This record gives sequence, C-alpha cells and structure tokens, in this order.
Amino acid sequence: MRTMARTLAIAALAALPVYAQLTADELQPLLNGLARGPAATAIEKRVPLMTDDPTVVPLVDLQLFAPPVVPLDGTSCVMELLQHSFGDGSYGAPTVVAYAPPADAGCGEVGEWATISLNLTVYSIGTQYDRLGSIYLSHAEIWRTSSAEPTKTGTVWTTIKDVTHYTALFAQDGELMMDFGNIVDDSLLLDGAFDVTLTATFYAATESFPNPETANTIIPLSSGASDLANYFTLDSDAGGSTAVSIPDNTLEAFAEIYCSGNSAEEFWYTNTPDEYADYFPESTGLIAKGPFREVQVLVDGTLAAVVWPYPVIYTGGVTPSLWRPLTSYGAYDAPTYWVDLTPVLPLLLDSSTAAANGTHNITLAVVGQGSAPSINSNWFVSGGLHLKLGDGPTKGFITKYEVPEAETTTTGGASDGNVTVWAQVAAQRELNIEAELETSEGNRTVRLVQSLSYSNSQLYADEGWLQWANQTTVGTITSTHGGRQRLRDAFEYPLALFSNYSLYEMQYGAYGSSINQTHRRSLTAPFASMKILQSVQHAVGEIGMDDWPGLRHAINGTGATEQTFAYRDARGETYFRDAATRNDGWVRDAVWGTLAGANPAVPPEQIYSAEGFLRTITL
Ligand SMILES: *[C@@H]1O[C@H](CO)[C@@H](O)[C@H](O)[C@H]1NC(C)=O
Ligand SMILES: *[C@@H]1O[C@H](CO)[C@@H](O)[C@H](O)[C@H]1NC(C)=O
Ligand SMILES: *[C@@H]1O[C@H](CO)[C@@H](O)[C@H](O)[C@H]1NC(C)=O
Ligand SMILES: *[C@@H]1O[C@H](CO)[C@@H](O)[C@H](O)[C@H]1NC(C)=O
Ligand SMILES: *[C@@H]1O[C@H](CO)[C@@H](O)[C@H](O)[C@H]1NC(C)=O
Ligand SMILES: *[C@@H]1O[C@H](CO)[C@@H](O)[C@H](O)[C@H]1NC(C)=O
Ligand SMILES: *[C@@H]1O[C@H](CO)[C@@H](O)[C@H](O)[C@H]1NC(C)=O
Ligand SMILES: *[C@@H]1O[C@H](CO)[C@@H](O)[C@H](O)[C@H]1NC(C)=O
Ligand SMILES: *[C@@H]1O[C@H](CO)[C@@H](O)[C@H](O)[C@H]1NC(C)=O
Repeated sequence: MRTMARTLAIAALAALPVYAQLTADELQPLLNGLARGPAATAIEKRVPLMTDDPTVVPLVDLQLFAPPVVPLDGTSCVMELLQHSFGDGSYGAPTVVAYAPPADAGCGEVGEWATISLNLTVYSIGTQYDRLGSIYLSHAEIWRTSSAEPTKTGTVWTTIKDVTHYTALFAQDGELMMDFGNIVDDSLLLDGAFDVTLTATFYAATESFPNPETANTIIPLSSGASDLANYFTLDSDAGGSTAVSIPDNTLEAFAEIYCSGNSAEEFWYTNTPDEYADYFPESTGLIAKGPFREVQVLVDGTLAAVVWPYPVIYTGGVTPSLWRPLTSYGAYDAPTYWVDLTPVLPLLLDSSTAAANGTHNITLAVVGQGSAPSINSNWFVSGGLHLKLGDGPTKGFITKYEVPEAETTTTGGASDGNVTVWAQVAAQRELNIEAELETSEGNRTVRLVQSLSYSNSQLYADEGWLQWANQTTVGTITSTHGGRQRLRDAFEYPLALFSNYSLYEMQYGAYGSSINQTHRRSLTAPFASMKILQSVQHAVGEIGMDDWPGLRHAINGTGATEQTFAYRDARGETYFRDAATRNDGWVRDAVWGTLAGANPAVPPEQIYSAEGFLRTITL
C-alpha cells in the first residue's frame, strides 16, 4: 500500500438528493446514548511522534468495534485456529492449516452454536508498512484485515469479529488460510514481522439464546487457489468468475461481498477524472480514471446487484501519523456488503443455460470511470454465496428486471495556467429485480431494490500541492421474500479530506492532512438481526520526511485523532465509545453501554498522564 497519497481528492457533502438514509428512529437512540457519555476533553498541544517510547510496552493499537453478542447463561470453548509469524518470505505465501469443528461438549452441538466469534491478535515490533490480510475458511473469505504500522518497542492489536453467519463452514472439516503478505528487507529498513494468533470461541445455544438461522451451505465466490490469497485480483473490467452449481431446492440465495482497492486504487475516492487529469504536469503524480467505483455481481453476464463501497483508509493511508494507535474505521475488520440473489434464482436454476458441466458463472467485477480498462490496478474482490435450502425443487421466472445504467455526471474546470483544478462526479442508480418463485414452502414474490446515490468533489490548488476531496455515498438496499424483509442496508459514508504537500520536496520536508470520516449504517443482514452503528472520526496531523531519493522515510510528525462510536442492535444491546489519540498515545478512552465489558477501554497505563506526554507507567 502507498504510505502517502499524491492523489488526494475530496467531495461536496451538500446538495445531495437524499435517496435513503437511516431513519430518525434508528439514529436517535445512538445520539442519545452518546450524549450520556463522559465529557470530552480537548486535545492538547501536539508534539513529535515518539515511536520508540519505552514507557508502554507494547503500545495497544485499535480499530474500534462493537463486540459480538453472546449468551451469558451457557457454556463456551476457545479453540486456537492459527498461530503464525508473517515475516520474511510471507509475501504471496499464505499459511494454510487444517480445520475441524470443536468436539468438546462445552462448545455446544456442532452447527448449532449460538454465536461463533473470532479473536485476531497481532503483535509486531520494528518498522513496517501497512499490509493487507485476508482469512478464508474452505476458500470462502471470512475476514479482510490490514496491519498497524508497528513501533520500535512493540505494538499489539486485537479485533473480535462475529462469524456466526459462517456456521455452515465451521460445522465441517476444512482448510483455514490466512494471507498477510509481508516483506522484511534490511535494505528497505523494513524489519517488522506480524505474529498472528487467531482463536475461535464457540458458544453453546441456550434456552434464552437459541442458535440463529444461518445458511445451509456457503459456496465461495473466489479463485479457490490452494497457495495464494483467494480473492480475485482485478486490474481490468473482466472481473473474477466462479463456476457454481446451485442445488435445485435452493429457497434463498444471498451473496456477501468483500472488496478493497489497492496500489493505484488504494485511494480510489481521490482519483482524478480523466477529463481533468491532463491539467496537471505528470510530476504531480495524480492517478486518473475518476473516483467512482461500483462492484458488480453478474450471473451468466446479467447484472444481478451492485455494491457501492465504503472507503477504508489503512494505517499508512494519506498521512500515517493519523492512524496510530487509533485506526480509521474498517482498517482491521473491513465492512462487507450483502446483496440478495434470490430474484435471479431462475437464472441460476435454469439448466438450459448452464455450461456443459451444469454450472453457472457468477462474476464479481469492479467498474470505474476510465476507459479500457475503467479501473487502475487493482481491486481485491471475493464473496460467498449463502444458500437456504428447502424440501423440494424451486422453479420460477423473473417478472421485473429494471436495471438502468448508473447515471454519472462529471464536471470541472481549471483556472488560468492550470494552477487550480476542480472536478465533481455525481452518480445515482436504482435497481429493482423481482421474481415469482414456486418453492417447497409455497409460492412467493421475491424482490431486491437498491437505491444509491454518490457525490465526489475534488479541488487541487498550487498545481496539485494542495488537495481537497469530499465524497459521500448514501443508499438503501432492501429485499423481501413473500413480503417478509430479508435484507435491509441503509447507509451513509461521508468523507472529507485535505492534504498539503507544499514542503514535500524540501530536505526535511513535510506534508500533512485533515480527514473527517463517518460510517453510519443500519444493517439487517439475511442471517442476523438489525445492527445500527455510527463511527465519526476527525483526524489531523503532519509527517516530517528525510531526504532519501526515491523512497523517503517519515522521521517525525504529529497526529491527533478523535472518534465517537455508537452501536445498538435489535436485542437492545448497546456499545458506546469516545476515544482520542495524539502522537502515538492514547489521550482518552471511555466505553459504556450493555456490551462495554466485552470490549473495555484501553488500560489506564496506556493513557497519557495529565502532566504531559510521558505515559504513567515505568518499566
Ligand atoms: C467539502 O465540504 C466542505 C464542507 O461542506 C466545504 O467547505 C468544501 O468546500 C468542500 N470541498 C470541496 C472540494 O468540495
Ligand atoms: C484475544 O486473543 C489474545 C491472544 O490470544 C488474548 O491475549 C486476548 O485476551 C484475547 N481477547 C479476548 C477479548 O478474548
Ligand atoms: C463469466 O461471465 C463473465 C462476465 O460476463 C465473462 O467475462 C466470462 O467470460 C464468463 N466466464 C465463463 C467461463 O463463461
Ligand atoms: C464448468 O464449466 C465452466 C464454464 O465452461 C468452467 O469455467 C468450469 O471450470 C467448469 N467446472 C468444472 C468443475 O469442470
Ligand atoms: C492546461 O491543461 C490543458 C489540458 O491538458 C492544456 O490544454 C493547457 O495547455 C494547459 N494550460 C497551461 C497553461 O498549462
Ligand atoms: C404456485 O404457482 C404455480 C405456477 O403459477 C401454480 O401452478 C400453483 O398452483 C401455485 N401453488 C399455490 C399453492 O398457489
Ligand atoms: C474536519 O472537521 C474539522 C472540525 O469540524 C474541521 O476543522 C476541518 O476543516 C475538517 N476537515 C476537512 C478536510 O473538511
Ligand atoms: C500548506 O503548508 C505550507 C507549509 O507548511 C503552509 O505555509 C501553508 O499555509 C499550508 N496551506 C494550507 C492551505 O494549509
Ligand atoms: C523533524 O525533523 C526535522 C529534521 O531534523 C526538523 O527540521 C523538524 O523540525 C522536525 N519536526 C518536528 C515536528 O519535530
């Protein structure tokens, strides 16, 4: 991943048609809960980063998350799935271990668990870029993660993820793969390895917490490779295809999608529209093909659903000093996206159009705004097809297929001499697919409706040395089967970004950024109850550079990040957090809500003392 962006764009939050959003009923309890938290304290004067501060060993690094909801009145068991050090030679070389379901009685009946949660804990010491990681069970991706940029005295981070919806995979023998490609190279001064421990906790179902409905079977939408990360690496519009064979008694089919931009697509939301890229001298290093990206799901070449992703910023992203020890939302547990393919089951079940071996072709593609190909290199995309099966065959036909092209407009201009250049991109899309199905559980109308809106606005001044970008994506995805809601995803992803590279080229030059980002989402996934969450982050900081030609290093800097986080679910569980970090240390961290105990605040010795920046513990 790039450690800094020369390509920062931005977006106008204003004047966006409100296509869909969380309702006031969904949002207000979160805001009320946050307001009941402890009073915020101001961030103090900033000081240089202290990456070798020995007073806290190791530094606790974190992406905020709401912990999984688990039964409190039953038994559970912890199973270590994987322990591995990703160091020299781990690039392009995932580790693979055998998986077998837990046999211990305390874990509960195999496949009947109330909750399955994973704990991914990583320790790293030294110097290292942020690296992308992915975990697969039997070739279906179950976690997309990335790393901290470690400190010279050691950094540790733990993320807990609810993976109950993968019960069908965990109930069978399989292969667990983790890819966390890392490079250790003295000549690049990169010596940080990632020591990974991955454990699973299985909770037995109880009377008050029965095992939830989950898919009967999960089919990976992935490359299926035995020795490489299983996501598709996309650098063109062709997409990645999987030949799948769907049982003829399939009642419901959902796809969960993982996707992330990498390399020239890491900061896809700041890529310049082709129409305006030529206004800059090549030395500015701006990346073109525009900022709008759509992930498409196609069945035998027919568009079945789309995903407009949330921009995850990695720990080395834009200005790295913003993201240690508090990362941007999604850095260690990237959001995933659900779509309902039940309305296109008539295509997937049609034997007359199946390949000679009886398979259909599901393609995951990423479409951008450039020409041939429309994206840069590259996107990493995979998914899983979650199927619910019935007692007899399903038949049916598609009765409505309203899938007009996305409406995209790009406007912009430049000042005299191209000193200032600006561009705006707006996109919207409505998608409505309906089918009549005859199933072993009766006849039903099934419907997927997607209503999406996007806007991005970029401004580059001083020939690109000053860059602003605002982007917001708003939408609602709903699906119903026989009138019963099976999926609802209402979301809002605003991002505002400013970067100043004015001093970048000087000896001991510097650059800095301000980033505000929100992730606000009410998600009722097909095999889960409603979860509403809001993360709001404000980050500002600078990096000082050495003068190595080519690969320059950060030698000092400042960074201050504040975040509020609020979660509520259909069971009435809540989790609230108000955290702030500055210059590699925690300034404050408060946690409240019913789930507070399962993911408490960082320990007090990690918090800066009132006197200054030296932390309170001594070795
Ligand atoms: C981004 O949004 C902010 C706040 O609405 C606005 O002041 C700024 O002009 C916008 N920037 C761009 C490049 O649209
Ligand atoms: C997560 O795993 C790490 C390493 O195995 C362990 O130290 C930590 O206590 C675990 N955290 C939770 C909440 O289970
Ligand atoms: C699958 O569909 C995609 C998208 O239409 C197409 O590019 C690809 O060639 C197809 N693959 C096969 C094996 O039919
Ligand atoms: C089935 O056919 C498709 C398309 O022709 C091909 O991509 C796929 O690899 C075949 N699968 C098997 C198991 O032979
Ligand atoms: C500004 O950019 C446009 C588009 O590339 C180019 O035609 C024009 O010559 C440039 N003007 C200056 C003064 O560089
Ligand atoms: C379901 O639909 C089929 C085809 O339209 C029809 O023949 C059948 O009678 C219907 N069954 C029920 C229970 O309504
Ligand atoms: C982020 O928000 C802060 C506080 O509202 C504001 O001062 C700053 O300009 C914003 N940054 C961007 C890039 O919009
Ligand atoms: C950008 O940074 C330079 C050098 O530190 C500074 O003089 C200038 O005011 C900054 N510009 C903005 C718009 O913040
Ligand atoms: C970073 O280091 C450079 C070179 O030693 C120095 O000129 C600069 O003032 C330092 N910046 C900070 C914020 O300490």
